[in-house]
Amino acid sequence: MSNIGAPINRIDAWAKVSGAAHYAAEHPVEGLVHAVLVTSTIASGRVLRIDDGAARQVPGVLLVMTPQNAPRLPRETKDGKIQPPVGRRLTLLQEDEVYYNNQPIAVVVADTLEHARDAAARLRVEYETKPAALDFGQARQSLRTPEKVMAEESDTRRGDLLDGWQAGSTRLDATYTTPIEHHNPLETHATIAEWRQGDDGGERLTLHDSTQYMKGVQRIMAAIFGLPPEHVTAICPYVGGGFGSKGSAWSHVALAAMAAKQVGRPVKLSLDRNQMFGPVGQRPNTEQRLRLAAQEDGSLTASVHDTVAYTSMLENWIEPCGLVTRMMYATPNQQTTHRLAPMNLGTPTFMRAPGEASGSFALESAMDELAHQLGMDPLALRLQNYAERDPGKELPWSSKSLRQCYEIGAERFGWKERDARPRSMRRDGKLVGWGMASATYPTNRSPGECAAAMLADGTALFRSSTQDLGTGTYTVMTQIAADALCLPVERVRFELGDSTLPEAPVSGGSTTVASVGPAVQAAGHALRLKLTGIALADERSPLCGATADGVGAEQGELYLLADPSRRETLAAIVARHGGDGIEVIARTEPGSEKEQYSMHAFGAIFIEVEVDEDLGEIRVPRAVGVYGVGRLMNEKTAYSQLMGGIVWGISLALFEATLIDGRAGRAVNGNLAEYHVPTNADIQSIDVQIVDEDDPHVNPLGAKGIGEIGITGVGAAVANAVFHATGRRVRDLPITLDKLL
Ligand code: MOS
Repeated sequence: MSNIGAPINRIDAWAKVSGAAHYAAEHPVEGLVHAVLVTSTIASGRVLRIDDGAARQVPGVLLVMTPQNAPRLPRETKDGKIQPPVGRRLTLLQEDEVYYNNQPIAVVVADTLEHARDAAARLRVEYETKPAALDFGQARQSLRTPEKVMAEESDTRRGDLLDGWQAGSTRLDATYTTPIEHHNPLETHATIAEWRQGDDGGERLTLHDSTQYMKGVQRIMAAIFGLPPEHVTAICPYVGGGFGSKGSAWSHVALAAMAAKQVGRPVKLSLDRNQMFGPVGQRPNTEQRLRLAAQEDGSLTASVHDTVAYTSMLENWIEPCGLVTRMMYATPNQQTTHRLAPMNLGTPTFMRAPGEASGSFALESAMDELAHQLGMDPLALRLQNYAERDPGKELPWSSKSLRQCYEIGAERFGWKERDARPRSMRRDGKLVGWGMASATYPTNRSPGECAAAMLADGTALFRSSTQDLGTGTYTVMTQIAADALCLPVERVRFELGDSTLPEAPVSGGSTTVASVGPAVQAAGHALRLKLTGIALADERSPLCGATADGVGAEQGELYLLADPSRRETLAAIVARHGGDGIEVIARTEPGSEKEQYSMHAFGAIFIEVEVDEDLGEIRVPRAVGVYGVGRLMNEKTAYSQLMGGIVWGISLALFEATLIDGRAGRAVNGNLAEYHVPTNADIQSIDVQIVDEDDPHVNPLGAKGIGEIGITGVGAAVANAVFHATGRRVRDLPITLDKLL
């Protein structure tokens, strides 16, 4: 009678579709005034002077905050870099230096948004312009080595590379590129900042901020303003998409708070769509050189994956493309490296499956090319190199169902009907191609906390400071809580999105269920035990005198296993104890399992494309994705996540690219009209299958992350299908029609 896994509808669905859900910028606040962020129009140099004479003439203008007059922040946190990588090096008007185009250089506040916009447009900015690094080819002449790649080494080497290379009878040396991409959640970044005086006379800062990390916003803003963390509150019950962009608190959050302090009123600062292209992170472009060598039977004897990506002048942030190559195939001899090409562009950041999405495009394209050279089936080549253990970490997998994923995917797709020769399949005058790729994403876990209270009305309230990015956190946590406490889901409420609630980590790296879920479960168990203990010791309870292991629970009641007629409701126990609710707090954290097992979700993606040979147009009639992702918390939200990932993978393959003007360094397609993403008509059949997988090692729930694996492998599977259809190998994403003509 478990609620876990049940495909129940989203708890927050009604609030969202009816408008009852308030997003950050919609929160009603008394006396609210409006800020507009002003950003640089040069890529490198200094702000010499900002003439605000005309701006100040606009009625209703309350503040023009520039590097000349912005309040000075405590010196030790001048650059806002508190706790990398989630704490970022921000630009908070403490200096006049310009590092990239679209960098915040001023904030204008007025009584209405229109007045603020009008005034912002009237600012006259004088710059001293310096030469800007805007050419990737030139920037890659002076590379930096990142300190770390996620938590791993930047470079790895195993075996003997030269021996391995020479042992191969077939060799591939190919370079793949991926462009800069932007997250573009429907809800742009937005912050409402409000200062109040606390009872002790000290300052209190409240931020309604669209974020993937409540506690991160709280801590970083506390550090920037020199406040104790408990004097900063971040609130965000709903997020209109994040995808990694909202995993960090960027400059505008602190700027809104600085402006609010200056004007003595609550200030709302909502980014324009165009301001999503620079100051709040992006996926960097990558250049990935893959070298593979294999024997005649397809066994890899060497693999080399060297990645160069751009980074900003402010930070060394790397897209960790090589991680997937370290673990995917059983190659005895290997090298992976990561290098950074510093450019005058906004700082790059996490974007859905950072590293795996872009890295798997290169690796899985290269495997397809190698299979073609060997005259082998691409799926057979992958099976030939199937890694029974993690070859990089030299650890057993906690679980791995990739073989079943390949089998089921091939079966459902009809892979064995594939004629291996390129250009051999046609339908209705179009070329047809079939491609496949492996998918993977690591399974991570952080400490989490949850409070659980049983109330006298028979409902329970569970609370944790986690986030719901539209992914289903409210829903699955409610299911886990209901299951642990043996209540129907209708009688459980789960609260999140408030930094005053118990600790929860960033909703990034597909870790929310794995990190917060166990704490919710533990809180439910602890609460049930506490209520049981109270009943057993209370003579007024029908359970009095029994032992805890003789008590069962179902549907909000405790009963004696030996005599089920002796029972009482959880509500009755609370009522007898004053009716104020009985509460527990649980904290859970990972143990040493990471030292014993390598933990990954795996999958296989199969893609069909149709290519119009005259026009170069590519359509994707069919995708089949099969995944081993541990135990599902909710079948419906899980399928949605994986399907959404595949949609984004098709987007990455065919549509997405941010184009940077080579002179000004600004995104020229910084809007949703010209930054192409798929429409409904671009997406056709997507068949998502999930294999049963029991993993006792990843966490107490046995759940692996599902937020990011869906996008991985898809870019390569599409490129491989395009090659099969046309005989043209496109190594540079996106695969736009001009590349086929
Ligand atoms: Mo995700 S890119 O870890 O928000």
